[in-house]
Amino acid sequence: MNDKLIVLAGGTGDLGKRIALALIKRKANLRILVRPGSSLELPGADIVAIDFNNPLELISACKGATIVISALAGLGDVIIDTQKRLLDAAIEAKVPRFIPSDFSADFTKLPEGSNRNFDLRREFHRYLEKKPIAATTIFNGGFMDMLSGQAPFILFKFKRVLFWGNADQKLDFTTKDDTAAYTAMVALDKSTPRFLNIAGDIFSAKELAEKASEVFKTPFKLFRAGSLGMLSAIIKIVRTLSPKTKELYPAWQGMQYMHNMYSGEAKLQTIDNNRYPELKWTSVKDFLKTIKKSE
Ligand SMILES: NC(=O)c1ccc[n+]([C@@H]2O[C@H](COP(=O)([O-])OP(=O)(O)OC[C@H]3O[C@@H](n4cnc5c(N)ncnc54)[C@H](OP(=O)(O)O)[C@@H]3O)[C@@H](O)[C@H]2O)c1
Repeated sequence: MNDKLIVLAGGTGDLGKRIALALIKRKANLRILVRPGSSLELPGADIVAIDFNNPLELISACKGATIVISALAGLGDVIIDTQKRLLDAAIEAKVPRFIPSDFSADFTKLPEGSNRNFDLRREFHRYLEKKPIAATTIFNGGFMDMLSGQAPFILFKFKRVLFWGNADQKLDFTTKDDTAAYTAMVALDKSTPRFLNIAGDIFSAKELAEKASEVFKTPFKLFRAGSLGMLSAIIKIVRTLSPKTKELYPAWQGMQYMHNMYSGEAKLQTIDNNRYPELKWTSVKDFLKTIKKSE
């Protein structure tokens, strides 16, 4: 076992559990912080139940770690408040490195208000930048897994690829498992830069339609839903009529994410996939083949 202790918060979640498994596979010394009452059992990890609102419990749980990874998900009470408490505890416990729960398109240059969930992350970053701890954000574009239906890029029933604006705009996508494996490598690394960008595959709507046609052996055509200006107007209307402010992913927030990607404003500028040459990346064609098999 690797003697460097890694602390993970959010290990019961979708991405968090995959990060935990990727770390266990690499024989990491892993401590997962869970909320009391959690039923998480992962052989190879030390599971510690703590009250995330109690700074002393958090500090004690972070002691001895070389890095704290956050894979938490939520609104301001989690992404800002709980992550701040976790970060402060890591600093107090003299942990040298922190990975915030970003795992998204590059939101650093987006205008305020263009994506509610990204505004929360930028607010946390402003706090983080002032703190005496090294941090690494991992940007992975969209999760490729969402192309199987959760995000309306491919309309399987109509054999269409839906896009806004320009069909040639390149989009970044990475599977959850590839993101988790990379995060594990970053955690086990000695030192890493402030930002690392990864993309399992990069393609436009036009290319996505071509790849879907090839994999499913039936033509997938493009469907231009409208201009980016029209998408902005629709987002405003949906948000007004159905605000659902307490939901993490209301429909309008998904539309904000699509706008950020199709406008190119959240496009990854550099790609750091090759930092760990042993990692293999899932292309969108490989991913679509897994959907085909499970149909
Ligand atoms: N790029 C993309 O397309 C994309 C898509 C989806 C998600 N993401 C990102 O991936 C990251 C992880 O998301 P996910 O989908 O894996 O989330 P998830 O499955 O909802 O898991 C969330 C985790 O946070 C924990 N949590 C929530 N509120 C908490 C609180 N108040 N105190 C302590 N723990 C709390 C949950 O614990 P419990 O089990 O106790 O509730 C769980 O472990 C997030 O940054 C998310 O934005 C990216």
